[in-house]
Amino acid sequence: MTYDPFHPIHRPRRLRTTPGMRNLVAETRLHPAELVLPVFVAEGAADPRPIASLPGIVQHSRSSLVDAVQEAYELGVGAVMVYGVPLTKDARGTGALDPDGILTQAVRWCVEASPQLPVIADLCLDEFTDHGHCGVLDESGRVDNDATLVQYAAMAGVLADAGAGILGASGMMDGQIGAVRSALDDGGHTDTALLAYAAKYASAFYGPFREAVQSSLVGDRFTYQQDPANARESVREVALDVAEGADIVMVKPALAYLDVIARTRADVDLPVAAYVVSGEYAMIEAAAAAGAFDRRRAIEEALTSVRRAGAGILATYWASEVAGWLRERR
Ligand code: PBG
Repeated sequence: MTYDPFHPIHRPRRLRTTPGMRNLVAETRLHPAELVLPVFVAEGAADPRPIASLPGIVQHSRSSLVDAVQEAYELGVGAVMVYGVPLTKDARGTGALDPDGILTQAVRWCVEASPQLPVIADLCLDEFTDHGHCGVLDESGRVDNDATLVQYAAMAGVLADAGAGILGASGMMDGQIGAVRSALDDGGHTDTALLAYAAKYASAFYGPFREAVQSSLVGDRFTYQQDPANARESVREVALDVAEGADIVMVKPALAYLDVIARTRADVDLPVAAYVVSGEYAMIEAAAAAGAFDRRRAIEEALTSVRRAGAGILATYWASEVAGWLRERR
């Protein structure tokens, strides 16, 4: 029999004929346990405060935080990631090291609200410095890498004492994982895990986050966060963090860096996380609000693409909502 091009033998469409068939052959699925919910907690807030550039997301008060954390846990979300928004800032970010500071308090409130849910505390100075940088500055106004490591090491002990099971090292200082690991171990916190923001790019997509944490940054982070043009550089950054003792490596942002996620997944055997950042969230919300596309489908497609690229853990502001959808579907 000769091949009739008008009657193909190979028909990939067979596996797409029904919802059941598509479900059977799906290569990638979302699961609530792999979703991480970032939360912002504002010092002194009596009520949750909306964040204009992040529709649907708030700066939490203590009680709205507790509700959000309990809801996330009940929906099966895998972890919460906590950011503190302090009332006062200074050049050295001293508030970050205060055992009664807003971040440390917020960690305790999360642990109390849901003792089973892992709490990831953001280990960085930028919310606490009056210049808004992720580290301390030297006399010439440059971010002083090694002086910052000392601050991170101290901050790590305070956050671990407060009950954070995981510290998210997001500052992009060289050697931060090694320094923090060694300080934690010396302080007896050998079980506190490190989530390394291993490949973190200097991204415009962090825009709404700056409003969310009331960042005082003037200028940019190009001397410590990565150049969006570079992928091989991520291989090096990730390898260094693995060598220094990272437990989980993260790529950030996610949607604009799927190639970096895929490469990281191929290179390392640690869990790989990816962070769908504030601007990526805001873009989809804005387009959906403008009627450009179906909101739920766009969110599911975006998160599935990050999963498909190779991230096993997804940090997303949609975590609880998506976990709710996944529950509905069961
Ligand atoms: C810095 C930090 C940032 C984000 C998380 N941690 C901002 C930055 O690096 O400028 C951004 C997260 C987001 O945009 O959702 N500690």
